[in-house]
Amino acid sequence: MQNFSWPQMTAGVCYYPEHWPETLWADDLERMLEAGISVIRIGEFAWNKFEPAENEFSFDFFDRFLDLCEQKGMKVIFGTPTATPPAWLTVKYPEVLNADMSGVKYRHGGRRHYNYNSPKYRELCARVVEKIAQHCGPHPAVIGWQIDNELNCETDEFYSEADSAAFRAFLKEKYGTLERLNDAWGTVFWNQTFTDWEQPDVPGPVLSTGWNPHMRLDYFRFISHSARSFCRMQAEILKKYRKPGDFITTNGLFGNLDNHQMAEESLDLMTYDSYPNFAFGLDRSPRQSNDLNDRKWTRNLIETRSVSPRFGVMEQQSGAIGWVTRMEGPAPRPGQLTLWAMQSVAQGADFISFFRWRTCTFGTEMYWHGILDYDNRDNRKLAEVKDFCRKFRALAPVCGAQNAAAFGLLKDYDNIWDAQADLWHGRLDRQSEKEIFCASELNHTPYDAVYLRDQTAPEELEKYPVLIYPHPMIMTRRRAELLEQYVKQGGTLILGCRAGTKDMNGRFEMQPQPGLLRGLTGTDVRDFTLASPNEKPVTMDWGGHAFEVPVFHDILEPDEGTEVLAEYRDSYYAGKAALTARSCGKGRTIHFGGTFSREIAKELFRLTGILEPFADDLAVPEDVQAVLRRKDGSRYYFVLNFMEEERRITLRRPMRRLDTGRVSEGSVTLKPFETAVYEAPEP
Ligand code: GAL
Repeated sequence: MQNFSWPQMTAGVCYYPEHWPETLWADDLERMLEAGISVIRIGEFAWNKFEPAENEFSFDFFDRFLDLCEQKGMKVIFGTPTATPPAWLTVKYPEVLNADMSGVKYRHGGRRHYNYNSPKYRELCARVVEKIAQHCGPHPAVIGWQIDNELNCETDEFYSEADSAAFRAFLKEKYGTLERLNDAWGTVFWNQTFTDWEQPDVPGPVLSTGWNPHMRLDYFRFISHSARSFCRMQAEILKKYRKPGDFITTNGLFGNLDNHQMAEESLDLMTYDSYPNFAFGLDRSPRQSNDLNDRKWTRNLIETRSVSPRFGVMEQQSGAIGWVTRMEGPAPRPGQLTLWAMQSVAQGADFISFFRWRTCTFGTEMYWHGILDYDNRDNRKLAEVKDFCRKFRALAPVCGAQNAAAFGLLKDYDNIWDAQADLWHGRLDRQSEKEIFCASELNHTPYDAVYLRDQTAPEELEKYPVLIYPHPMIMTRRRAELLEQYVKQGGTLILGCRAGTKDMNGRFEMQPQPGLLRGLTGTDVRDFTLASPNEKPVTMDWGGHAFEVPVFHDILEPDEGTEVLAEYRDSYYAGKAALTARSCGKGRTIHFGGTFSREIAKELFRLTGILEPFADDLAVPEDVQAVLRRKDGSRYYFVLNFMEEERRITLRRPMRRLDTGRVSEGSVTLKPFETAVYEAPEP
């Protein structure tokens, strides 16, 4: 991975020259530039324009367009067109198609209906990417490349024959012998034992019995492996032909994909596609939602920052969302377009590219609105984009600034995928991650997502005074040692229920829980239960206050030297420990027997001294997001009003608002959806 850096705050837009008469191109580019947009992303669904018939290549169309861009001073990110194979290809080579779980092939006409493992598809993709890269790579307008479009979007499951064959090869490589595979997957259960390498297969239709969980865990790893190698195949071609300094990226964060590994192997940076209006476009009432609606898109942006500290947003929502086949959404209210773009910038994006310049007048996405509407006239969205671009330019000093984080939320792909294969695990993870996120937002206690990987160095963890690893059911010796080192060096590690119970195959360990973490927690879990739906909610007594403990309860027995911080008050385990702390070296481990609620997460922030790290500088109500980026001795506070009403904030020292240059102190009113960025020197 190159350490790509945006030289300045950069505004872009997604454009599809193939959707419009050529006579519109020049006017479109001029109006974009006039609005402050200096980069466009093109090409990602236009395979036919390059290769209208098998092995017949033509570049006239994009040559004309790129030359015009150069002439106008517009820069271009070129998308490789592999997300939508041409009809001539899928009809002639149906083996390139993905299939549903019953093996029924998807047809031409949507997108991402191909599979990663078909040798034919790889060959044809490699050829078209090579031709495009060779031809367009040297063009002075091009500044970067996007591989495919949203790898693993639309579906992250693959069931074609090519996938079956590749899955077997993956398993052979991983296990070597059938004995090892049988053992890892526990195939003795329900007589699933394999006696020939032709027998293991991708998951297929099953009765209510579901699938072997250990097989599914490996299947998710396999999909990730397939997507990564498809991406790497393209990246290696692009690297041969790109100009020095031109970057390689892909867009979006999707399931069954180790984005960290993919970025490390193949990309210079990750870009994200941010559509916060999904929160309103589905069947829900924003007023009733307790998961922060559009504000919760911040979670995905935090995840993107974890993959790529200097990320960009390739598609930033600029209009109402909607397809003709699914999803209906309202237009962004005046101010919301800027709010959502600033939400991305606050989390570290220094490149914001809106989706899309003009709403398409035909096709599935006729309701996925862009900046301009069908009539092509100037409108309020364009005016707002212009205003955003002006404010974005005023953030010049923030470019490259680091996000401040009070704690790290530890995660790893093995546990993420195990939580998909195991309902019980999934329930814990979903509850705790959502609640920790909400607590972080509402209390203005920011965090980084930190992925534990084989190559994670202790220093990467030691930056954080507190790490929360909610439910690492899967634990390895190496990870346990890393955590121990972190704690010994002075860190505070917080673990939730069921930690340390499984091995890398997702099988339970036959040992006292929390297994490999026992030395750190100083607790023994001899009994545990899902919260019973037949009992009143179970609470714990923590310093004289009652806290409801949701979902699941590990009943903790403290070893000598382990401090009990809270006890269950209800059910048959009333009086037993629910929350403990144990010192080790300079740090300590806090073991919580339940899943997290936002109230409990907040108390843990308070206990560990990380609650409201901005309190000396700002006072902001819960509804206002506050985010800090820091650079060169300056603090940049983003304050974003997500509400449709005014909100008051207090600046506790003089700060300069970057877009107006005005210095303020004391009480300030934010208008509905207003965003502001304040600069203050580090104290
Ligand atoms: C994104 C995708 C775009 C467009 C947009 C609206 O996921 O990358 O190509 O489809 O959604 O649906």
